[in-house]
Amino acid sequence: MKFGFFDDANKEYVITSPKTPYPWINYLGTQDFFSLISNTAGGYSFYKDARLARITRYRYNNVPADAGGRYFYINDNGTVWNPGWSPVKTELDEYVCRHGMGYTVIKGKKNGLSAEVTFFVPQNFTGEVQKVVLKNESNEKKSFKLFSFVEWCLWDAQDDCSNFQRNFNTGEVEIEGSTIYHKTEYKERRNHFAFYTVNEPIDGFDTDRETFMGSIYNDFADPETVFSGEPKNSVADGWSPVASHFKKITLEAGETKTLVYVLGYVENPYEEKFNADGSMNKSRAYEMMKKFDTAEKADAALAELKETWDALLSKYTISSPDEKLNRQVNIWNQYQCMVTFNLSRSASYFESGIGRGMGFRDSNQDILGFVHQIPERARERILDIAATQLEDGGNYHQYQPLTKKGNDAAGTNFNDDPLWMILSTAAYIKETGDYGILNEMVDYKNDPALAQPLLDHLKRSFYHVVNNKGSHGLPLIGRADWNDCLNLNCFSRVPGESFQNTASNIAKEVDPETGAPLNEQTAESVMIAGMFTYIGPEYVELCRRMGDNAEADKAQAEIDKMKQAIIDYGWDGEWFLRAYDAYGKKVGSHENEEGKIFIEPQGFCIMSDIGGKEFTEKTMASIEKYLGTEHGLVLNNPAFTKYIVEYGEISTYPGGYKENAGIFCHNNAWIMCAAAYAGMGDVAFDYYTRIAPAYQEDEKLHRTEPYVYAQMIAGKDAKRFGEAKNSWLTGTAAWNFVAISQYILGVIPDYSGLKIDPSIPKAWDGYTVTRQFRGATFNIKVENPDHISKGIKSLTVDGKAVDGNIITDITGGVHEVVAVMG
Ligand code: BGC
Ligand code: NOJ
Repeated sequence: MKFGFFDDANKEYVITSPKTPYPWINYLGTQDFFSLISNTAGGYSFYKDARLARITRYRYNNVPADAGGRYFYINDNGTVWNPGWSPVKTELDEYVCRHGMGYTVIKGKKNGLSAEVTFFVPQNFTGEVQKVVLKNESNEKKSFKLFSFVEWCLWDAQDDCSNFQRNFNTGEVEIEGSTIYHKTEYKERRNHFAFYTVNEPIDGFDTDRETFMGSIYNDFADPETVFSGEPKNSVADGWSPVASHFKKITLEAGETKTLVYVLGYVENPYEEKFNADGSMNKSRAYEMMKKFDTAEKADAALAELKETWDALLSKYTISSPDEKLNRQVNIWNQYQCMVTFNLSRSASYFESGIGRGMGFRDSNQDILGFVHQIPERARERILDIAATQLEDGGNYHQYQPLTKKGNDAAGTNFNDDPLWMILSTAAYIKETGDYGILNEMVDYKNDPALAQPLLDHLKRSFYHVVNNKGSHGLPLIGRADWNDCLNLNCFSRVPGESFQNTASNIAKEVDPETGAPLNEQTAESVMIAGMFTYIGPEYVELCRRMGDNAEADKAQAEIDKMKQAIIDYGWDGEWFLRAYDAYGKKVGSHENEEGKIFIEPQGFCIMSDIGGKEFTEKTMASIEKYLGTEHGLVLNNPAFTKYIVEYGEISTYPGGYKENAGIFCHNNAWIMCAAAYAGMGDVAFDYYTRIAPAYQEDEKLHRTEPYVYAQMIAGKDAKRFGEAKNSWLTGTAAWNFVAISQYILGVIPDYSGLKIDPSIPKAWDGYTVTRQFRGATFNIKVENPDHISKGIKSLTVDGKAVDGNIITDITGGVHEVVAVMG
């Protein structure tokens, strides 16, 4: 079943029914001001930090869903409706929502009147613009009433939804002309305020929620003020401040009226907070309002935004006979990569924005899918992240984007973390050729006195693994590796205790068989071992390119040692083992009753050539046999059915969900990469299409947005097999872009240039990729006359033959490249 369709020419997904299986959202803003907006205009806005500077209020997990948003209510002679259907939910004669690149257009029509609202956050602007176009499409003159509505959040979103004894007393607003200011806490310690304005005189307003609603027992669906058609001009005094503009509008048959609303955020330097007379300094707000006081200005800014996105997306474009592939690669996957880069895991319809800071491993991986778009921002991010590293090469697991400081709350000792920074730095250098980043002085622990060149940080990352090995010579897992839920040292027996944030309880444990006390020096991760042999060579290469061959050789010897340890202790006969637990027992082995095979180590070990062809073939066959489903590859199999204290959170989830045998789309990509690496182009692409959103046919079953990846699709053990959850903010976006753009389509930034190495379905005749790279543009035509999966027999650039498959001469300009497979 479908609820909409892709409009690729406009880079939009067009939703044709408001009653989607879950709110289908979009993100507005890519810099400092962000809004989440659903297909019925639900959602909220914030400045930089979704917790600390929340501008509008939202109610998660509400009944009905998606409560809180920016709503326009129309009272057309007693018929009350919203252009986005919700919250009044009057059946509309027409409804359409277009989610585009950084903007959303929602249009509703009822009784001959249409209302189209375009929502967007302009470039370099700390506000959301809402352009409202009202059109009388009937044959008669129409008089109706228009109410806008937003509800202010009292800034700290966590406090806002918990500290009512204080917060019901603090709300303050000011009304000046057509502008409603939210100034709660401005007179004391805050130096910021918000405003909601419209570019025409208004006929009334409301700012007190209870007055607007008519009583505390009304909700967004039946605000008495709207139904009565009379604003109350209320001025909030504590309780819940809101902002609603009222306008009486008359349109002749066929006539159109356009209004521009702006929801803005203003920050004043502390010394400029007040005017001489003690009033709030609104000069910055006036400047913002002036920028959008006409429809033409709004249109120009929207056009500029579209151009920005066109430019961003033109860095990598494919043209192939498969339109789903084209839209996935050219539009939506890259768009999602920008969103994950910006928002990390903070604010979505599954992440409340009041939870965690930015993850060290998450941000490093997000860079892999984003670095080609704006390399300078990736560079800055790498340096920020590196500055939170600890002196022993480990790091805080999270950091706060506002302060850019490492965050103690989530602790350290996630022993995969350091390696991801080597990978992201390597990706940045391959994209840009900027080795200078390795010489940048970067703090340890955010302490400038401890600063060392970035290369030193990578070295300590590498040796953090080397220096923390267990009895099999494999890396100690610490609190967890990439799988946050495989907590082999946690031994949690206390309800509600966090499996990640709790310092190990292991000191209290003994081995039930031997009675020996347990310690954290036992549980090892084959996944980290595989990551080390896959990512370690990047460190070796960087050392060589920086002229340190001795260090490169030394590091290579460590990689070789690790490879041997994986062969000796990490191979289970048909696939790679997952780990050793705190008792020293195998995890992810055929010897286990449940969780015999895990997905995570397999791809990295294959891509490290461990055990050669034999191990690769056996592993790939086992993956399909035990993990393969029509909706993607499950994380482990069989699913755990009981809580296993020595495994931790993974065994808390019912089988088929999340880390317990869910289809974790993030790590599916590692298998696509491995299959492509091994020359199994058909398998790689098959796995790609099983989870890529553009290929999902049943939107009702899939449930989340059909244009972006979700973190997880319920696996074969779940009752809701095929249903996705946790859309948008997931490392899935970056890794699937790496899998398709580099491993499958084979256009790969490399240290010495642009490498062409496709691994594709044999049936394909070819395709074209346009890639902007280090200031040059390459139009790359891949031809597959012999219908093979991998191998380039000839490569020409502007008609001239190139030896090998790397284009090394990168001197700007536009170049025609032909790569013939064979
Ligand atoms: C989730 C993981 C997540 C972890 C840390 C767990 O509950 O299952 O996916 O990484 O929390 O936030
Ligand atoms: C989501 C977390 O953000 C990420 O860091 C982790 O690797 C995955 N879940 C898997 O547990």
